[in-house]
Amino acid sequence: MRNYPILAHGRWISEELRPFLRQYIVEGNLTGRPFNRHQRSIVYERAKNTVDSQPFGSDLDFYGDEYELTTHSMAAKTLDGTKFRTRIGNGQCKQPYDASLLNVSAMSFGSLSGKAIRALNKGAEMGGFYHDTGEGGLSEHHRAYNGDLVWELGTGYFGCRDRNGRFDPGLFRETAQSDQVKMVEIKLSQGAKPGHGGVLPGAKVTPEIARARQIEVGKECVSPGSHPEFDTPVGLMEFVARLRDLSDGKPVGLKLCVGHPWELLAVCKASLETGIRPDFIVVDGAEGGTGAAPEEFSDNVGLPLRDGLIMVRNALVGTGLREDISIGASGKVFSAFSMANNLALGADWCNAARAFMFSLGCVMTKRCHTDTCPTGVATQNPSRQRGLVIDDKAERVYHFQHNTLKRLGELVGAAGLDHPNELRPHHLYHRQGPNALTTMDRIHHFLEPNALIDEPESTPYAEWWAAASPDTFKALRETGPSHHRVIARG
Ligand SMILES: Cc1cc2nc3c(=O)[nH]c(=O)nc-3n(C[C@H](O)[C@H](O)[C@H](O)COP(=O)(O)O)c2cc1C
Ligand code: SF4
Repeated sequence: MRNYPILAHGRWISEELRPFLRQYIVEGNLTGRPFNRHQRSIVYERAKNTVDSQPFGSDLDFYGDEYELTTHSMAAKTLDGTKFRTRIGNGQCKQPYDASLLNVSAMSFGSLSGKAIRALNKGAEMGGFYHDTGEGGLSEHHRAYNGDLVWELGTGYFGCRDRNGRFDPGLFRETAQSDQVKMVEIKLSQGAKPGHGGVLPGAKVTPEIARARQIEVGKECVSPGSHPEFDTPVGLMEFVARLRDLSDGKPVGLKLCVGHPWELLAVCKASLETGIRPDFIVVDGAEGGTGAAPEEFSDNVGLPLRDGLIMVRNALVGTGLREDISIGASGKVFSAFSMANNLALGADWCNAARAFMFSLGCVMTKRCHTDTCPTGVATQNPSRQRGLVIDDKAERVYHFQHNTLKRLGELVGAAGLDHPNELRPHHLYHRQGPNALTTMDRIHHFLEPNALIDEPESTPYAEWWAAASPDTFKALRETGPSHHRVIARG
């Protein structure tokens, strides 16, 4: 700066403009990350309800290592995907919920603007799908329309915390029993920042946010990395049972990004030991989005969705718990194919966060943490929210979800199936080099029912199973090299 001030300023301006130049001029259709132009266009077109057909054939490299496909049948069927539902809630729950197969993933009021929350909820009401509140509490924006809500409790218990930040059962009961709340989700971790708590700086605690979170205006608010209400897997199960009771029998489940594998197995052991069954587990992939996270956590902590999902599927099937516990999946879901992928590998339904942000008009400037979002989606600044017209965006939210499910119906019908829950790993192919196209059941291990109970030694999970205890999240013994065998066999 001192030696060449004009050049240095020019460099700064170029740095500022770089993301825009890249996105609009330099970037190819298939090269941008986390979502490339091709992927974003699919969402924009479906949200606007305009043509989403592709002329002249695919841009994808069919012989590249990332290429995947689902197979089709000679006896294809015509299905209406918008009607697909999955029931969430086992015998221990009094008010099971029939969820759509594509829902709005957790994004709190605070990370998103009030108008964005309203548009999402209105869209959810129009399309009959659910809207997860995120961990920032259930705000007046969530209640402005009547879209189904899943109320998420993070470690800060926003919306049901006492003065010391501990869980307040009275406050919880009041909100959980409201008609609009269909399910309750205990957030254990989030793919983009697993194991990391959060700090909301005092300056961002506006009166509106303070009301939603039941915290003091202008005062820094810290969410710890783990839940103060339990410190063992059995304690977690007891918390599930307590919340189900307080919510008058609504489905209660967990959201997590898979970390130490023995902890997941310890939770299964705790469920078997206590007899308490969570109603669902939402598996979030490390590739998932966030309002803000330290880079090391976004880049290098936690299992990606596919690996985590297969592990959760195996843990539940292998312990005989799968019948009672539904599985949701989130992590870069934006199209019917990305949904079919997850459903084939063990999920019952999918959630999307950033794809719904695109439907609200997000242009991926990646400034969500600066309060300067140019589209009004992720800012608390009223003048920046001016351009976000709730009714218009709600229509787009609705159309994106509806059109994606229509395509899912076509995809499942093309495979000759009647419902996405018939999709299996062998329907999904992954290219492994130019001369090998392999089905997922040959790439990953899929355990047989009760395998972990009957013959744990025959599974690649044996050491983790032996290390898992219902009474502690710690491993009971050193776990060995089977890690690599499980994450990718073959
Ligand atoms: C702006 C934003 C805010 C989020 N806030 C929360 C949150 O409050 N609680 C949570 O569990 N996940 C939160 N997430 C993560 C999403 O719910 C989801 O798990 C993740 O983004 C994966 O989905 P995606 O790839 O479809 O974005 C947030 C994500 C975004 C993009
Ligand atoms: S437009 Fe940019 S700042 Fe706004 S939500 Fe999208 S990525 Fe975040």
